[in-house]
Amino acid sequence: MEELINRAASDLVESKYAIALTGAGMSTESGMPDFRGPKGLWTKHPEAEKRAYEIYGRFQQNPKEYWEERLSGHSLLGDLLGDLGKVAPNPGHYALAELEKMGFLKCVITQNIDNLHERAGSKSVLDYHGNVFKLRCVSCNARYDLEEYDLQKLRDEGRLPPLCKKCGGVVKDDVVHFREPIPLDIAEESEEEALKCDTMLICGTSAVVYPFANLPLIARFRSGRLPSGVYARGYGTTVKIIEVNAEPTPLTQEGISDYLIQGKTGEILPRIVEQVKKAS
Ligand code: APR
Repeated sequence: MEELINRAASDLVESKYAIALTGAGMSTESGMPDFRGPKGLWTKHPEAEKRAYEIYGRFQQNPKEYWEERLSGHSLLGDLLGDLGKVAPNPGHYALAELEKMGFLKCVITQNIDNLHERAGSKSVLDYHGNVFKLRCVSCNARYDLEEYDLQKLRDEGRLPPLCKKCGGVVKDDVVHFREPIPLDIAEESEEEALKCDTMLICGTSAVVYPFANLPLIARFRSGRLPSGVYARGYGTTVKIIEVNAEPTPLTQEGISDYLIQGKTGEILPRIVEQVKKAS
């Protein structure tokens, strides 16, 4: 383990453009359950995962009803994730924020909706599956903080769904549900980061949910769409892909990642930062 931690530290120090991709395994040490680990939400409640696949369809059918259920305090996600306001960043989040401050990490692309990277001080964060503390217009993609709308008042006055202050479109929670497209701005920026990076640190994800799980492949095979629409193919460009995860993933088994540092993100990432400090 020590040798791999030192190897990751030197890969980061030598990198020109390192990014991190994260999943629920970053937040389990903050007391949040993951989804597919041994005690994961979907592992323990497979029926809840099936219901989660229906949420977006219900929103599309009847946004008003969707919001009434969401505000009734019995939303599936709310029940499953509890009160996100009560959890705090852990040493793993702070380690990634510190790497960014030291100039060794340019961006975090996270699947987590819990806002813990931002609260730990990371500035360049792409919330790939949205952020539970934000709202988003489904027409123009404008984002709003929750507080910008008095949702209970809208509900009491029968004025749901909330409408966009910019374009009048329907506003939903920013969280990206199963079967919901990744907002185009986030999808494009994430693909660009994967094309640009020369080092990718993948922390706490089972890497089985697409299209997020495509990002390591885009980095590995250097193929993807640039904003100009041109497909960039840079075969032969070397990229270092490092996994920090409790267990091997398909990225490990298929040789997409160069190596796996197996263990807890909250323990391993701070040790990598320590070695980066010594080596830089
Ligand atoms: N340290 C390192 N790895 C951990 C830790 C930890 N403390 N805790 C859990 N893990 C590992 C688990 O073993 C698992 O391999 O993190 C991974 C978490 O995988 P998932 O539970 O599948 O979470 P994630 O990959 O983020 O899921 C992706 O699925 O349901 C959707 O939208 C949801 O964003 C989520 C997406």
